[in-house]
Amino acid sequence: MRPAISPGLAARLAGAGSVVAFTGAGVSAESGVPTFRGTEGIWVKFKPEELAHMGAFMKNPALVWEWYAHRKTIIAGIRPNAGHEALVGMERIIPRFAVITQNIDNLHRRAGSRTVYELHGNIERNYCMDCGKAYGNDLVLSAEGIPGCTQCGGLVRPDVVWFGEMLPADEWDAAVRAAEGADLFLSIGTSALVYPAASLPLIAQQAGAYLVEINPEPTPMTARTDEYLKGPSGTILPMLLAEMERARTER
Ligand code: OAD
Repeated sequence: MRPAISPGLAARLAGAGSVVAFTGAGVSAESGVPTFRGTEGIWVKFKPEELAHMGAFMKNPALVWEWYAHRKTIIAGIRPNAGHEALVGMERIIPRFAVITQNIDNLHRRAGSRTVYELHGNIERNYCMDCGKAYGNDLVLSAEGIPGCTQCGGLVRPDVVWFGEMLPADEWDAAVRAAEGADLFLSIGTSALVYPAASLPLIAQQAGAYLVEINPEPTPMTARTDEYLKGPSGTILPMLLAEMERARTER
């Protein structure tokens, strides 16, 4: 059964000056992107250390590229869902609104979200490991085998964060600032297991934010949240937006 949105939560959202939506793979599940850790998760079929790791790339760049080319093609063929779109609707209304995402699928920007901090990179971008030249997906998907840099001949890699790598510093710093300044923090479709990203809801809560989780399954964070809305984000987020709009007209 879907949870009703309480009038208290709708009023809180309608009156908030600053809101953060922190998203994980679950927000894209209804667009057809497999999550990482479910029974259909990507890591059930592939071991992460075999693929999303610099050591793996240096050892077998052709295999890693084959996997990324496959993922890039899947992601290019899907569309943002009602959950992504509801977040765009919230950004239009709330004075300061940021999406902080662990997803690399670019679906928040494609939906129309404007302030988006990407903690784990973006699968539509690539760069040369030697000279840093940036590439879109056209060159890498049309390349035979391993894409090489047209400028210096170096190895081109996807602009995503691999296991063991640092998060991009600017995105992380901006995400922490947004979390610390949030009145309300929505943690959506993430298993809240992968650090440092998973520390953001708690950073926000310690700085005074009201913490709301949206997920069909409880997570290690659920017990610490102020409200838990059990269900898929493609259903819950449009409900939340509608109740927030209703609360605004009643103010
Ligand atoms: P996970 O696959 O770990 O978790 C996905 C979460 O989405 C789970 O808690 C599901 O219950 C939930 N979920 C499934 N369907 C949903 C739906 N329709 N609506 C809302 N929630 C739903 O993915 P992440 O938490 O994003 O990092 O994983 C975090 C990071 O781990 C990824 O960014 C990736 C991976 O290692 C890197 O690649 C660096």
